[in-house]
Amino acid sequence: MALTQEALYRELDLDLSWSERDLPERERTKHVHRLHPYLGKFIPQLVEVLLDRYFSAGEHVLDPFAGSGTTLVQALESGLDATGVDIAAFNCLLMQVKTSRYDLFSLEHEIRSVVAGLDSQGAPKGGRASSYLRDWYAPQALAELLSFRAAIADYEHADVLRVILARAARSARRTRHFDLEFPRSPQLEPYWCHKHRRTCRPVERASHFLRRYSLDTLERIKQFQRLRGRARSAAVMHGDARSIQLQGPLDGIITSPPYPGLIDYHEQHRYAYELLGLDDRRKQELGPAARGSGRGALTDYSQGIAAVFEQLRPALRPGAPVLIVVNDRRSLYPEILAAAGLELEECHRRHVNRRTGRRAGEYYEDVLVTHFA
Ligand SMILES: C[S@@+](CC[C@H](N)C(=O)[O-])C[C@H]1O[C@@H](n2cnc3c(N)ncnc32)[C@H](O)[C@@H]1O
Repeated sequence: MALTQEALYRELDLDLSWSERDLPERERTKHVHRLHPYLGKFIPQLVEVLLDRYFSAGEHVLDPFAGSGTTLVQALESGLDATGVDIAAFNCLLMQVKTSRYDLFSLEHEIRSVVAGLDSQGAPKGGRASSYLRDWYAPQALAELLSFRAAIADYEHADVLRVILARAARSARRTRHFDLEFPRSPQLEPYWCHKHRRTCRPVERASHFLRRYSLDTLERIKQFQRLRGRARSAAVMHGDARSIQLQGPLDGIITSPPYPGLIDYHEQHRYAYELLGLDDRRKQELGPAARGSGRGALTDYSQGIAAVFEQLRPALRPGAPVLIVVNDRRSLYPEILAAAGLELEECHRRHVNRRTGRRAGEYYEDVLVTHFA
């Protein structure tokens, strides 16, 4: 029998659950958290509460599955140092751009000059495009993206401009508005749009996205620069968390590991890999959707996650909190924790308010509070 709402709320940690009214989208995507969309990220306020409960200012927090860098950004905002590891090069680029310190004067100068260049663009020059790019972009949009790419290589803040390019490329794909997260095939004809309740046309141009996201990125970096702890910094490491070598002692972990069969983290940003020529290490992703969720895939996943925590142990100070956020609907984590030598202290259930895409039903996740025995 389903739980009554009262019983359900008794089981929830209400300090870790927010309604849409408590926490509207603009708060969940504050400052640099919205430099580029990312599926399956933490909400920053969750990390904020966990840092406050389990860590102190001046400490150093690690996220071995750092994704879009929510842990790192919030650590800097709360006055901690942070290290983030991820196997996906685009995620590392995003984290680096979010957490770097900038000379805002020179950043603004460069971004404004790139935007001015968009207006005065002559014949597009951009080089060769892969068949993926030719399929997913209208000719004019592709020419604009390639011109932007050709123009930015020599800028001091080329990485910021690469993230802007990737965000514009995401929006400019020929896809239905509702399928932006998981587009299946290029949409070449007008279509009935469930999001806007009218007929929409696939995108033809990219320059308006490039302009809008350039100015938005500048504003967001400026906002974050005012908030972050002055003396604190973040390190981003591109690699497989099962074998990465870290200098300790670190004061603890906050992470949300991938879950088997849900998301392909490289494929999610395929346009960025194609446009930016990033190193593709998808074969080392743990629990990719492409591998499915059969018995073999689940066993490999569990062994892989346990191996990550086991190998991080020497880099942590004794008793360090290891906080794992997961919706463990297959009950894999009791065995993973045991194999990694982690002891469960507490488990907090939170309600996840999901507002995007065509997903239905309530969704919960657990915060597993553990430490090495
Ligand atoms: C659920 S996401 C983390 C999202 C993150 N909490 C955020 O707020 O953006 C899991 C991440 O694990 C990464 N990952 C998968 N396999 C990995 C591996 N072997 N080593 C390091 N990172 C890996 C994926 O690329 C993905 O970014």
